[in-house]
Amino acid sequence: MQRVVVLGTGGTIAGVAQAGMAEGRYQAGVLPVDALLAGRRLPEGWQASAEQVVAIDSKDLTWAHWQALAAALARHLAEPDVGGVVVTHGTDTVEETACLLDVLHDQRRPVVLTAAMRPATAADADGPANLEQALAAVASLAAAGLGGIWVAVHGRLWRARDVRKAHSHAIDAFDGGGAAPAALWDEAGGWQAAENWGARAEQPPLWHWLARQTPPRVACVFSHADADGWLVHAALAASQPDAPLKGLVVACTGHGTVHEALEAALKDAQAQGVTIWRSTRVARGGVMPADDAPWPATGGLTVGQTRVALTLQLLAPPQRPDVLAYLMAG
Ligand code: SIN
Repeated sequence: MQRVVVLGTGGTIAGVAQAGMAEGRYQAGVLPVDALLAGRRLPEGWQASAEQVVAIDSKDLTWAHWQALAAALARHLAEPDVGGVVVTHGTDTVEETACLLDVLHDQRRPVVLTAAMRPATAADADGPANLEQALAAVASLAAAGLGGIWVAVHGRLWRARDVRKAHSHAIDAFDGGGAAPAALWDEAGGWQAAENWGARAEQPPLWHWLARQTPPRVACVFSHADADGWLVHAALAASQPDAPLKGLVVACTGHGTVHEALEAALKDAQAQGVTIWRSTRVARGGVMPADDAPWPATGGLTVGQTRVALTLQLLAPPQRPDVLAYLMAG
């Protein structure tokens, strides 16, 4: 028997509509992970245990929550009978957590994040099916000898670096920003490998390293019509010696262009030691590298994922000298 550990972090998957709440309203992160797991079908040959790591609405996620999750993953993945882990999460920032874990994981065993768009008390709750699909994904990946970080939602399994929330309320809310899913859930109730089914090379884990890190201040700024760089100059003026602005992610137009006025302000920031990376505000296709572009392009990473990657890069993680190249590879 192998064991899958289910780590609860909250989210709509654990959401409950309380008495007196208006139609369609609910509170995220209420139900304990044990209750989510109760009655769920387990893959054959697997047993499950659960731990509540945090219980939050993922819009309120902090660095400390990530450290708690990393510590729990380190503890459980050190157990020889644990074949993989499922993390229940809110949809709002699951792509950021997946990106962070992808950099930290040793890639040896599967860790599958899942989420839901409807609270557990809704008549059309999608959490139970998504959780069963995530449990099955752990078993399928382990059987194929694949580790890594994945997100299973609504019948699709995504690589961590591709996944993003692409619809604010549809039940089928996630896509790959132009990248294909790694596997598709079939009618018979199993995962069928698709285009991006594969694994990264094994790495030393960085779970304990994260516990010792204080994140540098990294912010995001949008390029848009009539941009004038005011926000960048305001951020520079407000930068404190004990928590200076260290990084800026610019959500570019198109495949990586920046309004000339904002670009001038970003160059001022760069001259003051701020690292700039380019993502895009466009939903699919990502940012192209360009020889004449002043700052690195972060491929298909979303703005939020780019902020995670730049934060980690500024912390200089051991064994991952180039976080962006690491995320893009494999
Ligand atoms: C959250 O991200 O925790 C709330 C929203 C959701 O899970 O859909």
